Amino acid sequence: MTSTQPAYKIIDHTYDTVVVGAGGSGLRATMGSAQAGLRTACITKVFPTRSHTVAAQGGIAASLGNNSPDHWTWHMYDTVKGSDWLGDQDAIEYMVREAPAAVYELEHAGVPFSRNPEGTIYQRPFGGHMQNMGEGPPVQRTCAAADRTGHAMLHALYQQSLKYDADFFIEYFAIDLIMENGECRGVIALCMDDGSIHRFRSHAVVLATGGYGRSYFTATSAHTCTGDGGGMVLRAGLPLQDMEFVQFHPTGIYGAGVLITEGARGEGGYLTNSEGERFMERYAPSAKDLASRDVVSRSMAMEIREGRGVGPHKDHIYLHLDHIDAGVLAERLPGITESGKIFAGVDLTRQPLPVVPTVHYNMGGIPCNYHGEVVTIGADGNPETVVPGLFAVGEAACVSVHGANRLGSNSLIDLVVFGRATGLRLKELIKPGTSHNSLPKDSADLALTRLDHFRHAKGGSPTAEVRVEMQRTMSAHAAVFRTDELMAEGKVKLANTYKRMEDIHVSDRSLIWNSDLVETLELDNLISQASVTMHSAYNRKESRGAHAHEDFPERNDAEWMKHTAAWFNGWGGKGGEVRLDYRPVHEYTLTDDVEYIKPKKRVY
Ligand code: FUM
Repeated sequence: MTSTQPAYKIIDHTYDTVVVGAGGSGLRATMGSAQAGLRTACITKVFPTRSHTVAAQGGIAASLGNNSPDHWTWHMYDTVKGSDWLGDQDAIEYMVREAPAAVYELEHAGVPFSRNPEGTIYQRPFGGHMQNMGEGPPVQRTCAAADRTGHAMLHALYQQSLKYDADFFIEYFAIDLIMENGECRGVIALCMDDGSIHRFRSHAVVLATGGYGRSYFTATSAHTCTGDGGGMVLRAGLPLQDMEFVQFHPTGIYGAGVLITEGARGEGGYLTNSEGERFMERYAPSAKDLASRDVVSRSMAMEIREGRGVGPHKDHIYLHLDHIDAGVLAERLPGITESGKIFAGVDLTRQPLPVVPTVHYNMGGIPCNYHGEVVTIGADGNPETVVPGLFAVGEAACVSVHGANRLGSNSLIDLVVFGRATGLRLKELIKPGTSHNSLPKDSADLALTRLDHFRHAKGGSPTAEVRVEMQRTMSAHAAVFRTDELMAEGKVKLANTYKRMEDIHVSDRSLIWNSDLVETLELDNLISQASVTMHSAYNRKESRGAHAHEDFPERNDAEWMKHTAAWFNGWGGKGGEVRLDYRPVHEYTLTDDVEYIKPKKRVY
């Protein structure tokens, strides 16, 4: 293959494993790979301890049973039910069984968990986590380091990673994968600091790039959550899975979108409408404010829609913590107490906090199995076809343990369990020091052609303008409640916005800290994922988990208990068409220790 790449000097590197992303899952995979004796590089666009895991507040789920009776089968039941039966039960069994060991590993790595008086790890209740196979009462399963659990984990994991011999490439932006005959051979990255281009050749690339929350106007996600791995996967001609399932966290601070942990309700907080009513008692008589997130977010949206929202525009809800002892707030929820002051001007010990459902998490992502191996539908129709050399972990991935709706605190455990599992798989697959074949001549073409195209883009549409147009469309047309009409309009609007990518305008032509250029590459990643989200959502004619379709209000297992796979045909003058297909849900467990949990109506 001859090369058509623009003339950029390339610095070459060779590793056994390259991990892209240094949040919880990326760092755990980096650690595992390096521990296995593999030459490992971790490429990250922000300093590792600034990765978005740092923002995770309430905790990490594991059936330790410190504060109430618990069992891994109960955790499994809750996760399957929370997923509205779209989760793969083999992967869910793997996660919940590995969870306690993963938490103790973190404890030993130095995570400063909050403690019970006798010294064990403190665990709080979280939405949708119950005792006795869903029967209740709520279980205390979420291990917490006050309300800064992700922060504590990220620091401990980064310290651990430094102990092993991994190389960190910090403030490097991964542009595109190097694919050859369906196999991943490495990745091309831009060093944002000095503008140099780097080609990483490796036996394995692990995408740990997080979610794409920033495709919406308001999100708890950091500005860095632009789904860069998902964008690369789509450009590599591979599908993303279950992208219609976008989680709205019930309690984002009204106006600011800043997260207020579900731990607030776990510690006794509750929601009220403009009549002062604790309305969750009507929607979820048993779990009330601790129902799963999709249920609470929908209930809040219903209250607002029916005119019982609070504030001058009746467009939000109150979260009360003012009845909780100030000492408990200071000890268990110091972070949100501060956020309440800064972002809402509210003293939580005395006033209710204005909150509204806010985009928080992507259940969908890069399809993979519980070893972290990326899978696709092969040419022979096999839906479990492994893409050699390519792995995905964390929010970027869709294992799928969260199905149509993730339970709070199941994300942090997903990160470390599957980060570790991926490390173990790499150890099985790669012998340290295995020689590398030379890369194809066109290995950098896709990445450099795109980079060069956007770097010199002279159109009439500034990146920020196109981005906000996409974000407004997503927020208006793929929100908590959806209709055919709304989503059909959303598809047209997004297609028009995508056209504007051809007319994009980048002002800065340099390669040194060119945030204009990097934001444009990020926007390119976001808009492809926004498009497959809208199309996948329009296509799914049922309601399940976070996908509440008003024209099809019931779950329809007969027709729709299947994963959506979505391809995007969008780079290089292509129009951005979306193609959809399906992968079966794994209706089987990993072992005979537990039976397949049969679908039933989901009530809390
Ligand atoms: O509410 C929270 O603390 C968020 C946790 C999560 O998304 O798992």
